[in-house]
Amino acid sequence: MKLSVVVLAAGKGRRMMSDRPKVMHCIGGVPLLQRVVETSKQLSPDNIYVVHNNSRGIVNKSLAHLPVTWIDQKEQLGTGHAVLQVLPECDDNERLLILNGDVPLVNIETLKALIERTPFDSVGLVVARVQDPTGLGRISRNDQRDVVEIIEEKDASKEQQKIDEINSGIVLCPAKNMRQWLRELKPHNQQGEYYLTDIVGLAVRDRVHIEDVMVRNQNEVQGVNDLWQLTELERCYQRAQAKALALSGVAIMDPSRLDIRGNDVQVAADVTLDVNVILEGRVSIGKGSVVEANCFIKDSHIGENVIIKTHSVIEGSTIENHSQIGPFARIRPDCQLGEHTKVGNFVEMKKTQLGAGSKASHLSYIGDSTIGEAVNIGAGTITCNYDGHNKWQTVIHNGAFIGSNTALVAPVVIGENATIGAGSTINQNAPAGQLTLARARQQIIADWQAPQAKPKEN
Ligand code: UD1
Ligand code: MG
Repeated sequence: MKLSVVVLAAGKGRRMMSDRPKVMHCIGGVPLLQRVVETSKQLSPDNIYVVHNNSRGIVNKSLAHLPVTWIDQKEQLGTGHAVLQVLPECDDNERLLILNGDVPLVNIETLKALIERTPFDSVGLVVARVQDPTGLGRISRNDQRDVVEIIEEKDASKEQQKIDEINSGIVLCPAKNMRQWLRELKPHNQQGEYYLTDIVGLAVRDRVHIEDVMVRNQNEVQGVNDLWQLTELERCYQRAQAKALALSGVAIMDPSRLDIRGNDVQVAADVTLDVNVILEGRVSIGKGSVVEANCFIKDSHIGENVIIKTHSVIEGSTIENHSQIGPFARIRPDCQLGEHTKVGNFVEMKKTQLGAGSKASHLSYIGDSTIGEAVNIGAGTITCNYDGHNKWQTVIHNGAFIGSNTALVAPVVIGENATIGAGSTINQNAPAGQLTLARARQQIIADWQAPQAKPKEN
């Protein structure tokens, strides 16, 4: 039987108090809706439909790369009405798996269990027992423990509100039954909406079996309806990431002060992550490396036994084995730092290749440069790479020594084993193996008179 996934994402999200559509808010740096779609993709369904509200076009434009069919729900009349918008696309010999775009951490194993356990002609529900069921639909059962109804909190009596078993919003249902039941829905409730959850009562009436799958981990079915719930879920998610890393051999100084953003962060065993580290996007860190406190690393590859000292920022770059970065270093995109390199405090680098064993230890800006091996760049060296319109290249060959406070006016080439005297402004190529100086000569004025203070007037 065919399977179509329907992700509900058109709700106004009023409780978020935010201009951004709810499903575009992020957990671990990934929009809620994208998380749900990526999880459901693992089921290899025949279709993935996303019900959204096209009036602002933000969601489908921002997430245009997702392999889904976008269905516009012009008016948000409730979750039942949202599913109704998809039915013209579906035929009767398929099953619909309904997911909420605001329940981002659902586990693929739970969805597989729901699909496996629910017979083709039955309805399947994912339910959970939670400590705080506030705001969620409650599961009502009869004496035989069969599910008979889902009651939304706003429609529940005081007694019913005490029920701690909740509806996750995840439903599996034959399209044929869905079509029939949705036609019968009435918005006779506190919110004046067409509730998808009312199909449960209709299934009971029609003697259609209801299967339920209980999840153990509450976070899996935690919905995001306001920014506090988002914050709390973010912390749960981050803690789970930290735990998985710790169990794979990564030393984490404080799991509440580590943030992993994106789905592609690989950290090898015997890496140490100190407090307030953020790893974002596509990041890999090799065995034995140390990331000290307050570092931000984005879309970068860090080799083995690298030390990233405190307060360093690394983006879009590669740092090879045994190198040392920081403290207070800023590595901007497109840098390749070879093995045993050293980039010290207050050094900024951009689009630069730094050959093995080369060093820029203090207070420099190195941009658009190709630097060979075993080069020493003295404190305060600046590559003047920008003429106001164009960027120009600086090339420094192996073994060169750049004295402190040198300005390298690009385009310029420094030859192999050249030495540049401190304080030089170099605007022509410097030959290999020689000392190049470009600074005013020091003078000593022997008979110079120091200024005297004027006599005070009375
Ligand atoms: C819904 C369930 C509730 C369940 C909870 C789980 C209903 C009536 N209630 O409540 O039983 O415990 O989820 O988190 O289904 N949406 C649309 N179009 C609409 C309305 C909503 O696409 O017209 C989307 C929303 O964007 C959201 C999802 O449907 O992703 C659920 O809507 P929401 O308003 O958050 O429902 P809850 O009150 O959370
Ligand atoms: Mg919700």
